[in-house]
Amino acid sequence: MSEPEKIPILVLVSGGGTNLQALLDAEAAGRLEPAYIKAVLSDKQGAYALERAAAAGKTSLVESMDRTLPPDERRNDLSDRILKQARACGARLVVCAGFLSILQGQLIDAFSGRMINIHPSLLPKFGGKGMYGQKVHEAVLAAGETESGCTVHLVDAGTDTGSILLQKKVPVLSGDRAETLAARILEQEHKAIVEATIMMAKSIQGSTI
Ligand code: GRF
Repeated sequence: MSEPEKIPILVLVSGGGTNLQALLDAEAAGRLEPAYIKAVLSDKQGAYALERAAAAGKTSLVESMDRTLPPDERRNDLSDRILKQARACGARLVVCAGFLSILQGQLIDAFSGRMINIHPSLLPKFGGKGMYGQKVHEAVLAAGETESGCTVHLVDAGTDTGSILLQKKVPVLSGDRAETLAARILEQEHKAIVEATIMMAKSIQGSTI
């Protein structure tokens, strides 16, 4: 009986990397199968997520936005460099885990159906351009929502618009501030990112993509 196929993933990060840490911990505990983290790539030099990757013995890569380019070329240039890295490391699935750059172009096409992102709201509400980090939770509170949560979705050419894979809900409590709501949601993100990565890896197993 041959070993079940393992799926190498590239994790994209920008900041603290607590979602990455959830993936690293799951892998270390044998709870990420059939996925395994082949490399971690940040668009920010010095992101603490890269220290988490190094501490776990993972290959760490940095591809920053080239601000010497005209603004309308920067996203495509960054996306093309990330695609090159994804192919070089043999990634079959790309997981955006607290990744803030907007991606487009060939990367989106090449990894169509094989790139996921986690967003800290119940999409399609409170997503799209400019909706990231604390801004999301401030908007949820300002709208008087009674619940919020996180969404893992496929990455398409839009911003937070791809097919929804899974969501986890939390209550909005009276007296909540953006920070307290964010912390409650982050706990659920750490579960959702692992569950969605396993689900996607299983869906790719046995395929030629
Ligand atoms: C999380 O809320 C994530 O949804 C958003 O960035 C925040 C920090 O993520 N994209 P992490 O701690 O860097 O994983």
